[in-house]
Amino acid sequence: MKNIAVLTSGGDSPGMNACIRAIVRSANQKEIQVYGIQYGYKGLINNDFNLLTPYEVGNTIHIGGTILKSARSEEFRTKKGRNKAYNNLQLNNIDGLIVLGGDGSLTGAKIFVEEFNFKVIGIPCTIDNDIYGTDYSIGFSTARETVVNAIDKIRDTASSHERIFIVEVMGRESGFLALESGVASGAELILIPENKNSMQEVIHNIKEINDKKKSVIIVYAEGCNFGTLNELSKNIKNNIKDSNVRVSILGHIQRGGIPSPSDRILGSVLGYESINKITEGVSNKMIGIRDQKPITVDLYDAISKKKEIDLSLNKMSDTISKY
Ligand code: F6P
Repeated sequence: MKNIAVLTSGGDSPGMNACIRAIVRSANQKEIQVYGIQYGYKGLINNDFNLLTPYEVGNTIHIGGTILKSARSEEFRTKKGRNKAYNNLQLNNIDGLIVLGGDGSLTGAKIFVEEFNFKVIGIPCTIDNDIYGTDYSIGFSTARETVVNAIDKIRDTASSHERIFIVEVMGRESGFLALESGVASGAELILIPENKNSMQEVIHNIKEINDKKKSVIIVYAEGCNFGTLNELSKNIKNNIKDSNVRVSILGHIQRGGIPSPSDRILGSVLGYESINKITEGVSNKMIGIRDQKPITVDLYDAISKKKEIDLSLNKMSDTISKY
């Protein structure tokens, strides 16, 4: 192997740069050159390749986002787009591709391996932490910390004004970020899509907690499917006399920021391991982490199997947070 390419695709996540840095430097040790592709699959199609030197990736471990930029590419979804991408890899004499991203990006990687029999390794990067086969994905730890910091601040107001706050947390269709952030911030109620609550049940619980505590933090995962935020807010106001309700949507502050030490370590470990594996001839796999050790997972499993959430954490939180 002489040349490898790396790209970041889909939503950026803190720790991606630590991973790119590890890839470039580990490859350098094996006398392999690494080309950074700008703007994810879009750059692959547009032949946007730049050689990355081990020194160039210095001073990036502490920076959020991705130095390679990211994008969601519609063209890569087409056969024509993927043909262009493959031709550019050939043109640049690339022997293997490393894709950093979430489930959409890894799905693209999987299709690409199948169509062209090209060597591809995926690395899970998403604040949602919803990828099967890995305990953690790069970015989750930082986002969790950001959400907890935000809720700690909101709690001051909730408590001072005796208000009910509904805090919307990202995570697409999954509740990993909401659940762990909710537990860590002592939220009185955590609503996630994996737990099927009825509106009636939720209102009953909020009322019970509010009667005792006078201030309530409800963590609401954006993928919840039992009603919209506004419906919930209206329902609380209608059913709980004199309730003072506020909605706070945390939004994209959850995606950016200085990567946590855990994300820097995870990015470094997975980047290093991806080079070990790709140079051993491994392809069509994702490098994940289980019990703090890197593992390889079939890309097929990573994108098609559902990662189960630990609902007992939700139950535990319900038990201890209502006092
Ligand atoms: O997948 C990461 C994520 O931040 C989700 O939590 C969220 O639903 C989505 O991306 C937002 O996407 P965009 O940045 O394109 O609005």
